[in-house]
Amino acid sequence: MNFMSKPTSGRWPVKLLVSMLLGTGGTATNLHAETTNLIPVLEIKADQITARVSPTLYGLMTEEINFSYEGGLYGELLRNRTFKASTNAVKYWSAKGSATIALDPATPLNTALDTSLKLDAAAATKDSPAGIVNGGYWGIPVRPKTSYHVSFYAKAAGGFSGPLTAAITSADGKTNFASATINGLTGDWKKFDVTLKTRKVAPSKNNQFTLTTASPGTIWFQQVSLFPPTYKERPNGRRPDIMQLLAEMQPKFLRFPGGNYLEGDNFNERFDWKKTIGDPAQRAGHRSPWNYWSTDGFGLLEFLGWCEDLRMEPVLAVNAGYALQHDYIKPGEGLKPYVQDALDEIEYVTGETNTPWGAQRVQDGHPAPFVLHYVEVGNEDWFDKSGSYEGRFAQFFDAFKAKYPQLKVIATTRVKSRVPDLVDDHLYPNSEEAMELRAHEYDRHERTGPKVFVGEWATRSGSPTPNMAGALGDAAWMTGMERNSDLILISCYAPLFVNVSDLGRGGSMQWPSDLIGYDALTSYGSPSYYAQKMFSTQHGDTVLATAGENIPVVSWQPPASKRKGVLQPRPPAQPVEKLFFDATRDSRSGTIFLKVVNGLGTTQPVKVEITGVASIAAKGTAIVLQASSPEDTNSIQAPKKIVPITEKTKGLGTSFTREFPPYSITVLELKAK
Ligand code: AHR
Repeated sequence: MNFMSKPTSGRWPVKLLVSMLLGTGGTATNLHAETTNLIPVLEIKADQITARVSPTLYGLMTEEINFSYEGGLYGELLRNRTFKASTNAVKYWSAKGSATIALDPATPLNTALDTSLKLDAAAATKDSPAGIVNGGYWGIPVRPKTSYHVSFYAKAAGGFSGPLTAAITSADGKTNFASATINGLTGDWKKFDVTLKTRKVAPSKNNQFTLTTASPGTIWFQQVSLFPPTYKERPNGRRPDIMQLLAEMQPKFLRFPGGNYLEGDNFNERFDWKKTIGDPAQRAGHRSPWNYWSTDGFGLLEFLGWCEDLRMEPVLAVNAGYALQHDYIKPGEGLKPYVQDALDEIEYVTGETNTPWGAQRVQDGHPAPFVLHYVEVGNEDWFDKSGSYEGRFAQFFDAFKAKYPQLKVIATTRVKSRVPDLVDDHLYPNSEEAMELRAHEYDRHERTGPKVFVGEWATRSGSPTPNMAGALGDAAWMTGMERNSDLILISCYAPLFVNVSDLGRGGSMQWPSDLIGYDALTSYGSPSYYAQKMFSTQHGDTVLATAGENIPVVSWQPPASKRKGVLQPRPPAQPVEKLFFDATRDSRSGTIFLKVVNGLGTTQPVKVEITGVASIAAKGTAIVLQASSPEDTNSIQAPKKIVPITEKTKGLGTSFTREFPPYSITVLELKAK
């Protein structure tokens, strides 16, 4: 084969590719339609059901990464509200006026919040108030006519009782959007609550929160918090715009709390669920393995509340005695406390009110138990090269099955000693083509073993959020999952969120290519988000048999990779399909949902043949997501550049030809009788 350098468009012209694949005078047919002038034919056998679509196929995966909760979904607007992000410096807070501030571990609020912020405002005056300032997570969102709930713990020295002034101002301090005064400080810790209400102001984010005094004093603070209105007005709740984006996906479950966040770099940094429940002022917080502090304000009950608000089921991942620094607890006696912790956790989630942990949940404000079908033992335990997962999994599995036989237990890697109900597969191909190459993977998967949970997957193309190439790879992959949903019962993309405010090193993103992006004020869905929304909301309950002919193929040259810093020889070019499809049918209405992904940069005419139905209505609906280039994307500045368009379509029938636009994902709704 005679290879040429890649054209600047980043795509091979189709005809050139065909000749590259075939060599000159090649005789193969079916490699590409243009060689034979045959257009692709998709056959749908509507009377042949190959599987039921798993009702829980599409869900969400989440963990504290990329400022997903803190600085993301969690409503809290102040960064480092408990002053524990660092033990040797005051981070994310500064002094205002003549004040000085310092951490004071000698004046803790309690054993969990075991330090405080000491404000020395000895020189404060009416003309020069002194106090503390927080800039939030890359800004504080101000919206018109909005109420913000301020709360904090404080105590003061020498009879100082206030007043303090809480305010939201512009970052330069020149505009005061809302303020309120607080009196009644004493020498003992007390909690204060006050509301700030903005007037008719333009939305903005370049703002700060201040807590100041105009009279001299020494004051200690702990858990200084600022909450905007939350989704469904939940206390300690979630950000409405992001929840709305999620609600529109109609996800069926939430896998939490990780991911790496479940495990932690070290055991004392794991998601220790018992330390994340109850009064937030009693939660110590911990370091996320993604290298920033989590207050644990977003704890176990907050995850469950998130599920409840979006009518999702929890897929509960329990810590399985493994920490990311390759440290593990040997199966046996030493692992027992971990197994017990997991059993207690399941009881907290599902237990009746007369069980110890069910009663604790009632005390924490949620009398009703949650529905739970899936529990996952650990995360990515293939990293544990010691082989201890066999024994660790078996110990958890046996304990779960003994007490909760109805639970489906998920293993994070293949095991031999027990038969897990599901095994969790993860995949993160680095390009559209690398993902397209895997789109048929589950067509060939054995059907005799455990079912599959695709617990993390994404086409990593585009940053901070995937571009259209990412969406095309994802859509190709989803046709494969949907077609095989007899095997794949649950699946979720990862990571879900990214705060896009500071994309530099040490900033707001630890992992490029995340489904939903946001800053302090607004949020947006990536093209991959819209592709997923189309798949999760538009499908039937049965999978129909399909067949394709003349499927277009391009030659793809995988990029060079490095191993241990050394550049490896480029792998040979390989053929990649560029048209993907699957068909499902709603058994009650008869509607057929045909999904077609055209990864080519050219319009693709496709002949659709439907057998096994009496008729297909001439008129139907098409939902189309399309871009003019694979690099096109959405962003915080252009959040809706690429969104699905719903159009009425005609000329449908049991045999019709339709032109699918370049770089497009289409759901065709066909009314069948
Ligand atoms: O999704 C990002 C990370 O990828 C997850 O924390 C981990 O499970 C996987 O390696």
